Amino acid sequence: MAAIRILCLGKLPQDLLIDLHTVGHVITIDRDQTLGEVELCAHLKDADVLLSEPQDTLYQSALDQASRLKLIAQRAVGYDNIPLDDVTKRSILVTNTPGVLDNATADLAFGLLLACARRIPEADRYIREGHWQGFQSDLMLGAEISGKTLGLVGMGRIALAMARRARGFDLNVIYCRKPQKRAAAAPSGSATDNSVIPYEAVALDAKDKELTKTLSARRVSLDELLNESDFVSLHCPLNADTRELIGARELALMKTGSILINTGRGKLLDELALIEALQSGSIRGAGLDVFYNEPEVPQALLEAPNAVLTPHIGSASQETRHAMAKLATDSVLAAFSGKLPPNALNGQIFDHWVKNLV
Ligand code: GLV
Repeated sequence: MAAIRILCLGKLPQDLLIDLHTVGHVITIDRDQTLGEVELCAHLKDADVLLSEPQDTLYQSALDQASRLKLIAQRAVGYDNIPLDDVTKRSILVTNTPGVLDNATADLAFGLLLACARRIPEADRYIREGHWQGFQSDLMLGAEISGKTLGLVGMGRIALAMARRARGFDLNVIYCRKPQKRAAAAPSGSATDNSVIPYEAVALDAKDKELTKTLSARRVSLDELLNESDFVSLHCPLNADTRELIGARELALMKTGSILINTGRGKLLDELALIEALQSGSIRGAGLDVFYNEPEVPQALLEAPNAVLTPHIGSASQETRHAMAKLATDSVLAAFSGKLPPNALNGQIFDHWVKNLV
């Protein structure tokens, strides 16, 4: 087979670049901005392999141009930027990086929780701006952590790492699994009134029993979770079921004084509804690592004293980002030596895929 052309969006560590060079020619786009549709189309035209990141939206126009593309190795666990069904129909193999970023992401989510509850960034600004006059017993009072309830929306690997941290802080943990956006309610009593239909299957299974046994964690519905939690942290993938999962209705179910943390994806939240909740004080605060239209952050969030904001750095420890890049690189090496990468998202096409690799 002729040398393959590997398009790498964003810098790759040097040791991994050397590995990739053993299977093909690597073109790195060390961008400081997300590539637009036209630029992405131009670059993808000649690529056999794409190493992508969460901000790289795979537009249909780019895929139409990408007639040589065989593999997308996404350097992230979330892959909502890749239209998986469409890409699979085009016989393009897709891999992601699960399992290596759980602790780093849970660390950041927990850090945001602590930062919001104890007002750490606000206190830091207070000192730097020269306001501090000395100890005061009522200065910067925040929310106690111990003994409170943490609600985890989703119960995958990152949520589990969060639950483990929570136990060390004496938090009670509740969670919901596979939450779905509730359809707007039809008028009460009408034929389509869905207010009485449970929209989550709640049968407990072995995973729930294990979580109760090991972490005293209790599974509830999303509405119960929002009602009961002092801290709510989002850990579900972004897809058609979870887009704007938390909107005005859900925020209204949250306790006054509660805190919302999002390290998942910005589009899990209706950002305008969140801004209203922060401004009205119907919730105490929010810790956000992800935003609806990254890298845009609404002015109202920038100005909200009760929001703590970080620039999509959930998995950004040196060790974890290297591990993610290595997993993506290993997927490319495995696939082009005829082995199914263990983290393939559409491995069902692999037998056919490998036969066409000549
Ligand atoms: C980062 O956002 C990821 O999905 O890994």
